Amino acid sequence: MLTSFAPLSPSGFFATLRMTNHFYKKRRKETKLMAKKKENFKQDQAAASNTKVAMLGAGKMGGILLQAFLKNGLFRPENIRATVQHEERAKMLAGQWGVSVSTDNLAAARNSDLILLGVKPQTVPEVLAQIRPALTAKKTIISFAASVKTSAIEKAAGVDLAVIRAMPNTPSLLGCGATALCRGKFVTDEQLAVAEKVFASVGRTVTVDEKHMDAVTALSASGPAYIYIILESLAEGGVKVGLPRDIATLLAAQMTLGAATMVLETGSHPALLKDAVTTPAGCTIDGILELEEGGLRVTLIKAVMRAAQRAKELASS
Ligand SMILES: NC(=O)c1ccc[n+]([C@@H]2O[C@H](COP(=O)([O-])OP(=O)(O)OC[C@H]3O[C@@H](n4cnc5c(N)ncnc54)[C@H](OP(=O)(O)O)[C@@H]3O)[C@@H](O)[C@H]2O)c1
Repeated sequence: MLTSFAPLSPSGFFATLRMTNHFYKKRRKETKLMAKKKENFKQDQAAASNTKVAMLGAGKMGGILLQAFLKNGLFRPENIRATVQHEERAKMLAGQWGVSVSTDNLAAARNSDLILLGVKPQTVPEVLAQIRPALTAKKTIISFAASVKTSAIEKAAGVDLAVIRAMPNTPSLLGCGATALCRGKFVTDEQLAVAEKVFASVGRTVTVDEKHMDAVTALSASGPAYIYIILESLAEGGVKVGLPRDIATLLAAQMTLGAATMVLETGSHPALLKDAVTTPAGCTIDGILELEEGGLRVTLIKAVMRAAQRAKELASS
């Protein structure tokens, strides 16, 4: 990659070689790990497919998760009960997804072992009040509503049951989601492991302390929107310098995917990877100069800060 820009100095060559070796070593390790994960996933799938699941609030995010779970065969369609607010939408989605979709949260919760809560943060108290008679210590709630604390859900539930918070994102639809999980007071290690497996079926997962959930919301849940703007803008740049729009968009998207994969698979610091692209007196450094002058870094940092602040306020607004 580097040689297409400029001849490498010996030290640059060895640094690149070290990076390449590290890359392939990591790839081999990851491939083995992935094979093991796939095998475990198959076993977990068999167990999970017997679980009865309620998806309360099958909107954009809930719908994405539901479709991904169905596609992966994680749960059996006949074991899923989804709800929405509007009757017509329930009918339409039931036809589309081939699962039970209604507006009856209580009935859905009553018939489920695992309750996924996907309504807007402001609607969570209302839905919890509706399903309270169905809640027992044997059920597990996984809430992916932004901002709503596990302690608030535990309190509203009125019973000592497992409450897990998850913060997924929309790329879960294609199995490349990022989900952070945190546990409530009554969650056992096994229950958390089950939640991790559910979300691992749609991408990568991390477990964090609950105090970090608003930060996660601002970074990886809102993040796809930031990246789409960046990607769209880069494609516009390509159009400005003469590329056809479809080619500019494809190159911008594949390049974004490639850069993200480099960070994930080499484990290298993004700054080091950036340096490997930035030939002295080459073209990349001129582009970087424009980014710095435009305040891209500060803008992105502030975007995450502002979104985190909003995530803190949401449940009470
Ligand atoms: N969108 C994301 O990228 C994302 C990422 C992570 C987390 N989240 C979280 O996911 C939650 C939903 O966000 P969203 O973007 O998916 O919003 P959304 O598309 O508006 O989904 C909300 C869903 O809740 C349903 N609903 C409203 N009141 C209800 C009630 N009383 N009982 C049952 N269902 C009810 C709505 O029904 P109708 O369809 O009939 O109106 C809708 O399907 C939020 O808490 C958000 O923080 C979203």
